[in-house]
Amino acid sequence: MALELWETLKEAITAYTGLSPATFFTVAALGLAVYYVVSGLFGGSDHHHVPRQSEEQMQPLPPPVQLGEVTEEELKQYDGTDSKKPLLMAIKGQIYDVSQSRMFYGPGGPYALFAGKDASRALAKMSFEDKDLTGDVSGLGPFELEALQDWEYKFMSKYIKVGTIKKTVPVTDGTSTSEPAAEATENDVAKPAEDVPSVAAPVETPAGGESKEE
Ligand code: HEM
Repeated sequence: MALELWETLKEAITAYTGLSPATFFTVAALGLAVYYVVSGLFGGSDHHHVPRQSEEQMQPLPPPVQLGEVTEEELKQYDGTDSKKPLLMAIKGQIYDVSQSRMFYGPGGPYALFAGKDASRALAKMSFEDKDLTGDVSGLGPFELEALQDWEYKFMSKYIKVGTIKKTVPVTDGTSTSEPAAEATENDVAKPAEDVPSVAAPVETPAGGESKEE
């Protein structure tokens, strides 16, 4: 039976290719060998490229950059609108890199409104109101302060601290007035400390006066 099949095959090979069976098999083997060599050279095979997908999906976050002291105004630029910048958020004046939780704090996320801000008051009061999006925790009750403390612990354990919020206090100017916190005199104009240019203050003000607890 098998022999008959082999005979038929040999006849068919000779009939269709005009080659003797021996020549036919030699040519076929050579063709196969050439195919494997060529496909190996160009890496065109599709079975040893599995890892590529995961390489594309997992883009590792850049390591957190320490910012030192920044003003609340400067912190705003880290609210996630610029995807090249880290996503930052502050609690009690401490700034954390929350880039790993972009799904929470990034644009469109449920807590995006906290990004780029000190959200202490909002977190303490569990509030999303605009007026509470501030680091001002004055007048909070004990439960709210406790809630805030819990949030701080959570952030401390989950995220890397990258800086602190610079308090905008009146600049005292380098020249030391040796008196310890002399009371501001009547002459001192009670100007709110805006983005202090740090120069051009001809009147030397001791300015240590008002101490707001923050
Ligand atoms: C209906 C009410 C709320 C629900 C169902 C809810 C649900 C959640 C859930 C499921 C998470 C994710 C927890 C995790 O995977 O670690 C989360 C995280 C968070 N929630 Fe809420 N939440 C609610 C209200 C609030 C409110 C009122 C605030 C503050 C004003 C808040 C602030 C946060 C913050 C800051 C995180 C992220 C914490 C982190 O960075 O790990 N949530 N919330």
